[in-house]
Amino acid sequence: MISLVIEKYAPPGNGLGFYQDKAVFVPQTAVGDEVLLTIEKEKKRYIIGRLEEVVKPGSKRRKVPCPYYVVCGGCDLLHLSYSDQLALKKEMLVQVLAGAGILEAVNMVAAPSEFYYRHRALFRSDHETGDFGFLRRRSHQVAVVPDCLVLAQGLKNLLKELAVSPDLPKKTTACYGLASSGGDFAAAVKVGRNFQVLPGIPETVMENYGFGDLELAASGFAQVNPAITRLMISDLLQYCVDVREVSELYGGSGTFSLPLATIARNLTVYESDHAAAARGRRNAARNGLENVRIVSGRVEKKALPKALDTLVVDPPRSGLQPVIIEKMVKSRASQLVYISCNPATLARDLARLKAFDNGFTLDSLNAYDMYAGTTHLEVMAVLKR
Ligand SMILES: C[S@@+](CC[C@H](N)C(=O)[O-])C[C@H]1O[C@@H](n2cnc3c(N)ncnc32)[C@H](O)[C@@H]1O
Repeated sequence: MISLVIEKYAPPGNGLGFYQDKAVFVPQTAVGDEVLLTIEKEKKRYIIGRLEEVVKPGSKRRKVPCPYYVVCGGCDLLHLSYSDQLALKKEMLVQVLAGAGILEAVNMVAAPSEFYYRHRALFRSDHETGDFGFLRRRSHQVAVVPDCLVLAQGLKNLLKELAVSPDLPKKTTACYGLASSGGDFAAAVKVGRNFQVLPGIPETVMENYGFGDLELAASGFAQVNPAITRLMISDLLQYCVDVREVSELYGGSGTFSLPLATIARNLTVYESDHAAAARGRRNAARNGLENVRIVSGRVEKKALPKALDTLVVDPPRSGLQPVIIEKMVKSRASQLVYISCNPATLARDLARLKAFDNGFTLDSLNAYDMYAGTTHLEVMAVLKR
């Protein structure tokens, strides 16, 4: 057992102390904590520790509000007060950006609610034990969490339904759940590479972020936190007040397309998932938006419109491929709004964009606490030229 004091934080959300000149990273610790830990992994220059006991809590530590926190891998920051979580996440974002040479002030947007915000979740099941829940911390085993502190009521209702469902396939390992703000739920089970719908449980829900009814599917992409999504939409529209010709890359089923279509003259949306693109078309038609064109297929293979003043991109965690960055730089767009769920790839892409002579220059950065209690963040970067 090693005893040390946590001196600072290190991405992604670990406490950092020192033992015999080696850096020791310990999850679930706060600055000032005096802890006992065991070694989980030891390398030449650092150790990954497992927290065994907080001997003396640091001033930043709070009483953990969830009894499953030690085992469940869903949250990583519940031992910090909410304001300290925000400060830590902001600092981590600033560090990641600085590492790529991006020095820009970050405006941190707090979540309207720290708990019960999660409307989309990936549940896991163990077909040997029958356990159903989330993955355990750093493990492929299932942690059963009878009452999760961050799940929205709709997902809790789904869990109740699944608990009595005789139709959950025996070999289920991953079940995607989605709940609307109104409390409706949907589910899709991953069987091999395909999704399977469960009898009696819908595949889609209707969400409304204030710009018309939006059909979202449990098997497709949907934003996790509707309250934060509404704030992001409101900021996005502010940045796009005077836009006319807009292209939205990675549009999904239309979360940002419906609001953008209310202010753009023409909106072209690119989405590789054909089912999501089809939902996007239905969502636009349902809301009478005739100025939206949805192009399905990988955006790398598609041409951007010649007339274009604003680009909005919301790529997966892997970020933008160099070919997309080139396409954007060659386009006539004078503004780029980059929405990202991964600070590391965002920082990389901002650095790549900066390297072009006629590239975009960073104008503002907002970080949204879409996933309170975890180290994850959603970021909106606005670039101009
Ligand atoms: C982070 S999600 C954003 C979706 C949408 N903006 C929303 O908020 O609901 C990324 C989306 O990009 C799509 N996607 C991934 N790779 C793509 C590609 N190469 N070309 C076009 N779309 C892609 C995914 O299917 C997914 O719907």
